[in-house]
Amino acid sequence: MPIEQRRRLVTAVPGPRSLELASRKQASVAHGVATTLPAYIVEAGGGILVDADGNHLIDFGSGIAVTTVGNAAPAVVRRAHEAVQKFTHTCFMVTPYEGYVEVAEKLAELTPGDHAKKSALFNSGAEAVENAIKIARVATGRTAVVCFDHAYHGRTNLTMALTAKDMPYKHGFGPFASDIYRVPMAYPYRWPGDAEHVTDEAFAQFESLVHVQVGENQVAAVIIEPIQGEGGFIVPPDGFLPRLAQWCRDNGAVFIADEIQSGFCRTGDWFACDHEGVVPDLITTAKGIAGGLPLAAVTGRAELMDAVHPGGLGGTYGGNPVACAAALGAIEEMQTNDLPGRARQIERIFRDRLGELAQRYPAIGDLRGRGAMMAVELVRPGTKEPDPALTGAVARACHARGLVVLTAGSFGNVFRFLPPLSISDDLLHEGLDVIAEAFAEVTGD
Ligand SMILES: Cc1ncc(COP(=O)(O)O)c(C=O)c1O
Repeated sequence: MPIEQRRRLVTAVPGPRSLELASRKQASVAHGVATTLPAYIVEAGGGILVDADGNHLIDFGSGIAVTTVGNAAPAVVRRAHEAVQKFTHTCFMVTPYEGYVEVAEKLAELTPGDHAKKSALFNSGAEAVENAIKIARVATGRTAVVCFDHAYHGRTNLTMALTAKDMPYKHGFGPFASDIYRVPMAYPYRWPGDAEHVTDEAFAQFESLVHVQVGENQVAAVIIEPIQGEGGFIVPPDGFLPRLAQWCRDNGAVFIADEIQSGFCRTGDWFACDHEGVVPDLITTAKGIAGGLPLAAVTGRAELMDAVHPGGLGGTYGGNPVACAAALGAIEEMQTNDLPGRARQIERIFRDRLGELAQRYPAIGDLRGRGAMMAVELVRPGTKEPDPALTGAVARACHARGLVVLTAGSFGNVFRFLPPLSISDDLLHEGLDVIAEAFAEVTGD
């Protein structure tokens, strides 16, 4: 039975059944695994999450940008169901199967650039990033990797080294992988000086820091999220990504676009790089790729991908047959329902409604993002001083009203909105009404 696409609260959020489960979690799950909103979910679809108490919550998070095609999307369910009935695992490195190859073919077709491409499949985004670095190092014979302020690339040892934020991602977990260099991000809202010059100045800093601290001919790869995710949906100004890509071409380095959060229709294009026609040498994808089943990929220039010796890439579960079937289902949903177009419609609704809110509340210092990847950054009015306390309070007020929203940002002061692209306009507007009510309640407006 389809889930009724309406917010409905029958208990407090979280309700008694969820609280019971939360106390079992407390006793049996490691404390390091924290939850944003402990409403335990039993069913989901469209733009609704149904919790164990029967509350219908509006979903503005998509499980952190994963269920882009919607939860339990029909083509994902059909293909995964067919696959799971046939076989669940052989290990592609032992006895292979067609689904893996089909996903690699689709990735070659859909990712930016019309050059010859190949892919390798993995389980998680962090694993894809680690493997992209491995490939870049072997292909170039160099070791240094340049990454950016506010970056998030994962929680494994190498990806923690690439991730910028200490708490909670890195704190106490070092020492980290070496030969990683961090440079400033072109962050328009927080760039000191004139907004028009952010691209030039940020690129000049990149060039100079690499020259002084690393040496151009030591750089294996430059890795960047074309729109930064956990860092707070920071959109670099036009021209910054193309210049980095050109610098990599000029200096024999591999340009890696980490599109794990921004990829697969989220930003109104198939990939965020498409916006400026940027063609990365390697692209990492995960999250939206398979509608919720664990799958990730590195896709890139065939000659780079083939630089690694046989057996150098892989993993027991990488490209699991059910996850591959789900990915083919997710891609079918994206193509048949024009999900890039849907993301652009969602952006218009968010811009209108959040723009109105920003007029009313001077604490909204910046409204940014692209497609269905939108954010507001909260500050103390009249300053750019981050206001994480206000952000947390508004988030809690949204949660209590049955709207799942996520926060982000190096300073914990960004609301990021990542609805599934299957959400209705009515639910989007209702969610935005809830945000307005939450602001009114918290600010006493
Ligand atoms: C841009 C980016 N890269 C890498 C990752 C890590 O992915 P995973 O959590 O699947 O390891 C994330 C996760 O949020 C991400 O947003």
